[in-house]
Amino acid sequence: DSINGRPVRIYLDGCWDVMHSGHYNAIRQAKLYSITKKKKIKIKGLGDILIVGVHSDKEIARNKREPVMNDEERMAMVRACKWTDEVVFDVPYSPTVELLDSSQVRADYVAHGDDIPHDATGQSAYAAVMNRLKIFKRTPGVSTTALIERLLLAVNHEKRNREPKKKKQKQAEEDDEANASVVSWSQFLATSHRISAFSNHRVPQADDVVVYIDGSWDLFHPGHVAALKKFLLKKFFFFFSPKKLCTFLYVGLYDDTTIREKQGKYWPMMSLQERTLNVLSCRYVDEVVIGCPWVVSRDMVNVLNIRVLGIAENVVLCPNDLQRYYGVKDLVKVEKLTDLESNLKTQDLVERILRDHNKY
Ligand code: CTP
Repeated sequence: DSINGRPVRIYLDGCWDVMHSGHYNAIRQAKLYSITKKKKIKIKGLGDILIVGVHSDKEIARNKREPVMNDEERMAMVRACKWTDEVVFDVPYSPTVELLDSSQVRADYVAHGDDIPHDATGQSAYAAVMNRLKIFKRTPGVSTTALIERLLLAVNHEKRNREPKKKKQKQAEEDDEANASVVSWSQFLATSHRISAFSNHRVPQADDVVVYIDGSWDLFHPGHVAALKKFLLKKFFFFFSPKKLCTFLYVGLYDDTTIREKQGKYWPMMSLQERTLNVLSCRYVDEVVIGCPWVVSRDMVNVLNIRVLGIAENVVLCPNDLQRYYGVKDLVKVEKLTDLESNLKTQDLVERILRDHNKY
């Protein structure tokens, strides 16, 4: 395990389609492994580098199924993850020794969850690199397949509810089940330990320019990331201190009941705890408000020392409902974010899944 004074490099590949907290936890664990290793072998001053491999659309289709998100979108999500150091695109489904030793990857180890996949020929996809393989525990209760199924069920229930009464009657039984809400079907268990492991453990300092953006951040996607990233570069013009950049970003997440009230009873697709972990994994986020209020209160602005409220139209739940900011208008600057790197909306993903659902 000696690394001769250079950083430990660990490689982790995946499809990373419709990123969820299981994926983020995998990236976190792979990164953590190298850190633990570093401490164990007591080499001081080594940086540890996590290289994340991303399969191409074609490679995923050949070995698994058509991905919902395209190459660029999946790459954008992996890049935005705070534990990712380097990204390598178009890696093979079965890693080889040549790939690990290639100038692009140069990995000492390769990591995977304890669900080692089989390739299209039925062979273990990691057979060739067994002696460098480090296995971590797969996160139970979350998967892309389960998310797609949940979304299809929800949309079908919504459609049925819009049909004439007679038919509606026939569906009463199914609807009763759906009334229990989609989120309750989630098998994901969130512990305080997990949330703490994802946290940055940062609090704003007195001279920070604190920015707040709230949302549901459901099915966390490149449109969300683009809005959060925007703050990093955005200059805010205050009367006394012009040209200040956001130095601390708070992200508010509505609770499941609020989203259900605004978006319909089958939403959100991911529970508050899952959405919290996804947002915390994003490198542009400093801290989250778990279950934030729909109406931004003066108390909240004062307690969190918020200077700017951000609104991005592609991620906002009710773009025309700006009343919820009115009570604090004199305390903060309200900034509409435009010209984002991605304008993807959750609805775009829903439409894709519906259009192609036969493939999944
Ligand atoms: N992974 C995990 N926990 C999950 C889902 C994935 O630890 N709940 C890990 C896998 O073990 C793998 C990495 O995430 O090391 C990338 O997985 P990926 O190839 O993207 O997909 P799947 O494992 O098929 O996951 P899903 O069914 O959710 O797409």
